[in-house]
Amino acid sequence: MAGPDKGRMAEQPFGRIEAVTKTYPGGIVALERVDYDLRAGELVALLGPSGCGKTTLLRMMAGLTRPSAGRISIRGKIIDGPQPDFGFAFQSPNLLPWRSVLDNVLFPVEIAGRLDTRARDRAMELLDVVGLKGFSRLRPHQLSGGMKQRVSLCRALVHAPSLLLMDEPFGALDELTRMEMHDLLHAIRQSSGATIMFVTHSIAEAVYLADEILVMGPRPGRVVERIRVELSYPRRSAQRYSAEAREYERQAGAALGVVHA
Ligand SMILES: Nc1ncnc2c1ncn2[C@@H]1O[C@H](COP(=O)(O)OP(=O)(O)OP(=O)(O)O)[C@@H](O)[C@H]1O
Ligand SMILES: [Mg+2]
Repeated sequence: MAGPDKGRMAEQPFGRIEAVTKTYPGGIVALERVDYDLRAGELVALLGPSGCGKTTLLRMMAGLTRPSAGRISIRGKIIDGPQPDFGFAFQSPNLLPWRSVLDNVLFPVEIAGRLDTRARDRAMELLDVVGLKGFSRLRPHQLSGGMKQRVSLCRALVHAPSLLLMDEPFGALDELTRMEMHDLLHAIRQSSGATIMFVTHSIAEAVYLADEILVMGPRPGRVVERIRVELSYPRRSAQRYSAEAREYERQAGAALGVVHA
């Protein structure tokens, strides 16, 4: 069952961001009193101008940095440090150059001390899904940018994370590869049911991927609008060009202040 349906059935939110403020040393207020309930199985896109605090919010969700005020909890547990059952994918794939593709994908299970045959099988299955099964023994320098990004996605998913945090993961890719990655992400969501928080600068990417778009305003970051995206599932590339998608893009653009009446 696709994630979003699961989300609608959930009673308690999966994640809770409550009155979160982040002030960095030196007095920069990156986020100011952000509230948000994250529903299980949904993909939420954070969309906003550079410097509005998207990465900061994601890093707090990940437990890599703490809120200055307010709190973040996932499944009722307050996040006060890195969580082993979360997955991460960033703009730069950050693969270890001396490791093979397979060993890069296996890295999170290895450091968790859970490297076994099952983990290897899962890693190979994921590489198969992203079309890289035949490349498992190569080193990262032998791959294209899009292939590296696919390896990074497999690494983020290898331990079946309950929450996947993605910070502009496809920002460095060419448009065609990015569109392929979108469909791959939809397919992976369909099979894994993971809850995803996805940072992007692209209005069109946010609309095509998300169940809900959080539009953030300039610093100090606040949520200025929440847009529910009701495009049907399974999502297909043709929907990108539908009147419905265009209308969501217009709404998001208006909330960002880049589309005027
Ligand atoms: N470690 C840090 N120390 C001090 N200030 C920081 C730190 N990290 C981020 N900031 C500040 O916090 C604000 C929000 O930064 P953040 O990286 O969260 O923005 P962003 O929305 O991810 O931007 P971009 O779209 O450019 O990636 C910025 O003003 C930035 O200067
Ligand atoms: Mg950022």
